[in-house]
Amino acid sequence: MNYEEFKERVRAESDIVDVIGRYVDLKRSGANYKGLCPFHNEKTPSFFVMQDGQFYYCHGCHKGGDVFKFLCDYNHLDFPDAVRELAESAGIEIPEKFDYGDSGRIKAGLKNRLRDMYKAAAEFYFSNLHSEEGKEALEYLKKRGITKNTMVAFGLGYATGEGTALYKVLKDKGYNDEELKESGLFSYKSGKPRDIFTDRIMFPIMNRSSKVIAFGGRVMWDRLPKYINSPETIIYSKKNNLYGVQRAVAARKERMILVEGYMDVISMHQTGYPETVASLGTALTKEQADIIAKMARKVYLIYDADSAGTQAMRRAIPLLREAGAFVNVVSMKPFKDPDEMIRSEGADGVEVRIRNSDNALVFELECEEAEYDRNDPSENAGFEMKAAEMIAGLNDKFQRREFVKTVSERFGIDRELLAAEVNRIGDDALRQGGIIKRTKAPPAGRVNSANAKGRDVDTGHADERNVLLALVRDPGIFPVVKEFVSPEDFSSGILQEVADIVFDKINNGGTIQEGEIISRFDDEEQSDVGRIFCNDMYDNSDAGTKARFASESLKNMVIRRHDEKCENAPPEELAQLLKKKNELSNLIININPD
Ligand code: CTP
Ligand code: MN
Repeated sequence: MNYEEFKERVRAESDIVDVIGRYVDLKRSGANYKGLCPFHNEKTPSFFVMQDGQFYYCHGCHKGGDVFKFLCDYNHLDFPDAVRELAESAGIEIPEKFDYGDSGRIKAGLKNRLRDMYKAAAEFYFSNLHSEEGKEALEYLKKRGITKNTMVAFGLGYATGEGTALYKVLKDKGYNDEELKESGLFSYKSGKPRDIFTDRIMFPIMNRSSKVIAFGGRVMWDRLPKYINSPETIIYSKKNNLYGVQRAVAARKERMILVEGYMDVISMHQTGYPETVASLGTALTKEQADIIAKMARKVYLIYDADSAGTQAMRRAIPLLREAGAFVNVVSMKPFKDPDEMIRSEGADGVEVRIRNSDNALVFELECEEAEYDRNDPSENAGFEMKAAEMIAGLNDKFQRREFVKTVSERFGIDRELLAAEVNRIGDDALRQGGIIKRTKAPPAGRVNSANAKGRDVDTGHADERNVLLALVRDPGIFPVVKEFVSPEDFSSGILQEVADIVFDKINNGGTIQEGEIISRFDDEEQSDVGRIFCNDMYDNSDAGTKARFASESLKNMVIRRHDEKCENAPPEELAQLLKKKNELSNLIININPD
């Protein structure tokens, strides 16, 4: 029997409500079930189990997946062991041998081999650090105030000066040439394989489940490049990971702190701030901003106090805001970076500075202010106008009102004038159907990812998720949806992949089960997919509400796509596009309740 068939048979025989019910006390909630989440501490249930879709999702900690994923996470099992256990409890005989014919399995196999290889490499580097050869590296880390405990917690290591040391170790462990090549840990420039890391302090980069998936390596002297990082591989994509995330996840704090460097993360954690993470040698990505905002709604930026740090923050702020976070900026002055500040002021310094931190909008305005000579009346007016524009860009009335107050006090701008100007900009934009770029305001409270009104409350993609949810629950609306959007219209990444699957299934008249869709994604992505499909409010709404929800979300999605087109359009096409925009805002999408 082929493994795929076996797995699906086990799935069909293992009802998810029944299986999870063995571990969690579940109560009925309309069409679904809910209970206290077994993956985080909570007093009111936000853990949902969907019987029709055969999947689970927690709105509190965002864990989700199919029945296999639950068993893996709950009992810390590997996937095959979870399948085996469910097969046993369902009384299905387990074949001695499987036919692993398909290439998907080969890829999964290679992934496992790479994970094992990275683990072995991390162990090797770690042992070097505590050997004779690693003496100097150990001394360096100690001099920088890093304790033994911290070194162990982060798995810090040392790559010796010998150019093929790691290669030999892994070769001896039985990895073949193809696997070694795929790992990205070796350079083949000279024809012969050589370790890419030599004579460097090694920082293992781990995913949320503490599996090593990459390395950064730092020199100990003023040599360049200061860091090298291992390349992207089938187990590592930079844009979707964060340094320190494995410990931040476990710490479960109500805020997140974002810093620039590996060393900053390490000294912050050591000082008692395990909620600290950093991006991985590149500017913060949209995906990383989403991950951070999901972990906590309040985010503090602690970047270097130089112009590069300021620039990096100005790029990071809109991404985090768009992801639904409240952002504050913490000043390090007069120190260079958090590491240096901590050495001088310690943990108390961090806390005081966080308490005195500025809202990101105030920080942004301060940066703007530096560009104007406020003693010059016309320049001052220009700055005040800029302030009004930035406040008008906030998506939520209450936020705008609050910031009119804060900004007028802080920057000495007449409050009533500022308020009037903010309103005027908003009105003008509405009248022209214009392309005012509203930065998305953070949600007023942590609400279910998509509420039944179809309002975009969490990340920028709520409308897209809503459309997918409505399609899967009520495939009858497909002909209308198809008329307005296709899978390419969904934001890239997971949403687009899900849309591809859903459109394809409906087109081919297949039945859709959410759990089965979820199972097609990697471990780490499963909860994101689960989140799309988990909306108890939708499931328990009447047909009319559902239809309104679907059509509003679809309309918002269409308008958003169109806005993006406007932003990138050459001037000569703009008039035409704006006209279309006006038409779209009056668009009525008719989705009939059954
Ligand atoms: N970085 C990188 N490659 C470089 C330089 C920097 O990938 N050549 C990334 C690393 O993730 C590094 C971060 O940018 O951690 C910040 O750089 P920097 O401030 O120079 O390094 P720190 O980790 O803060 O190291 P240190 O405190 O030792 O200066
Ligand atoms: Mn630094």
